[in-house]
Amino acid sequence: MSEPIYARYRSAFAQALAKALNSPVEEVEPQVKPAEAAHGDLTFATFHLAKAQRKAPPAIASALASSVSVPGLEIVPAGPYVNARFALTPFTAEVIDAARAEGRSYGSAESGRGKTVVIDYSSPNIAKPIAYHHIRSTVIGHSLANLYRSQGYRVEGINYLGDWGKQFGLVAAGFEEYGDPSRKGDLAHLVEVYIKANDRAEREPAFDDRARDFFRRMEAGEAVALSFWREVRESSVRELEKIYARLGVRFEHYQGESLYQGKTEAVIEEIARTVGVKQSQGALIVDMPYAEGEPPVLLKKADGSTLYATRDLAAAIDRHQRFGFDRSLYVISTDQSLHCRQFFGVLERMGKEWADRLVHVNFGRVHGMSTRKGKIELLNDVLDEARNRALEKVKENILAGRIHTADPEGLAEQIGVGAIVFGDLKNRRITDYTFDWEDVLSMEGHSGPYLQYAHARACSILEKGRPPAGYEAGRLTLPEEQALVRTVARFPIAVREAVEQDEPSVVARHLLDVAAAFSRWYTLGNQDRSKRVLVEEDDSLRGARLALTDAVRATLASGLSLLGVATPEEM
Ligand code: ARG
Repeated sequence: MSEPIYARYRSAFAQALAKALNSPVEEVEPQVKPAEAAHGDLTFATFHLAKAQRKAPPAIASALASSVSVPGLEIVPAGPYVNARFALTPFTAEVIDAARAEGRSYGSAESGRGKTVVIDYSSPNIAKPIAYHHIRSTVIGHSLANLYRSQGYRVEGINYLGDWGKQFGLVAAGFEEYGDPSRKGDLAHLVEVYIKANDRAEREPAFDDRARDFFRRMEAGEAVALSFWREVRESSVRELEKIYARLGVRFEHYQGESLYQGKTEAVIEEIARTVGVKQSQGALIVDMPYAEGEPPVLLKKADGSTLYATRDLAAAIDRHQRFGFDRSLYVISTDQSLHCRQFFGVLERMGKEWADRLVHVNFGRVHGMSTRKGKIELLNDVLDEARNRALEKVKENILAGRIHTADPEGLAEQIGVGAIVFGDLKNRRITDYTFDWEDVLSMEGHSGPYLQYAHARACSILEKGRPPAGYEAGRLTLPEEQALVRTVARFPIAVREAVEQDEPSVVARHLLDVAAAFSRWYTLGNQDRSKRVLVEEDDSLRGARLALTDAVRATLASGLSLLGVATPEEM
């Protein structure tokens, strides 16, 4: 778990430049940039030095280049730039050895050691449909949990279930009318009931009152109401866990909104003391300046029941007490930006000095999702359809002799689910995107199956030829080999950036670069036998190529696991 090799060379170069220039390294380091491939690996521009040195940039560059030397770097001037290229060895050997030694945990680091991050993700509203859009919070949050853990953080993942609120009243009132008592534990049935009840409540105020009244009884702690609530909650969680198991998601905590009923009074008092509260149209709101047209932060409705914001305030305080977090992430749709901004703001006004550690990790919408079943896109149906579509492809490929597997169903599940997960994570989270079945399942495009295939391809090459313990990295002289080594070298940096930006797509996109460079390299052998990975009659060259293949396998396996995508070895 050493510092990424790429970064180490970069800082060694910066240090040498700083020494030669007699400037602090912190000033020089940010000026060392990645170079265009034709010019090497790193570059330092000298324009900004011209004035002080009263010399032309090319003269400065050539003087610098001859006075700076770093083991493992070839340093040359080019016009106003000082360029550095990683020497074939030791660089190539260092990169390959690091990836192979770390294997599936390649890219991990220690920067988060001793720090805690809380991640609130997935957090669906139970007894309401688990629609497809919940996939985004689930897969982004899951990947962030993996990414932070890889950097040494303690991760407390929380599924903040929407398990308290009027929707339970709707389900309860609806159940009396439309429910099948033998199916109380069946989430699909509860969703049907919820939809009918919701429709009816919109048309019929008396029915709406019944729902409201039921929720009031829950908040008052009435046993009958609470026992219905508990039953529905338990069966919903059981159903959800089946979906999470398919995605490989495990939460440290299931702590929903219901945990904070009864704890909101103390928070409201604290807000009253520190910020101020006031009545507005019968409701209790936070008394603070609001922008023109901004809805106020509601703490209590006219009927005394508490709200989403009240519970989020109580939950944030509770999490800070329990976990003492360094960061607390809320993986929630951009639609709730105002909500987050407001409740973060209230905490700040309350004098919580940790309020600036809360981060809204927001994400855009998914358009165009529709399943063969139609209408509401339930997450489980989407995963089923992905598996079924993948199974059709797997079967075709088995017939054509392209895929060998003893377990087509299992493989189809891994490919289908992986396609959905990667299809989401390759997009920058804040952008909206349009879902397309062909895109996400394509074997050639920018897709999960394409990456899984690249990984399986590396595994199958390594089945045919095992890399030797010792090998000569200096034999990897093809430009395609050196380009591939560089994508492997940059992987740990992509992981670090993904954490810094709370952006799994940085890793997703980097993996596409790795797979593309890998495929450009191993397909060379189709035209030219001497360029095959398993080249014959040259053991040392074959050994070096197998070692590189092994490093690629580790990179893809690590990256896909960080994203939450399965890595079948055969495909
Ligand atoms: N249950 C909410 C919804 O589905 C999301 C909750 C997000 N987390 C939070 N702390 N507010 O819209």
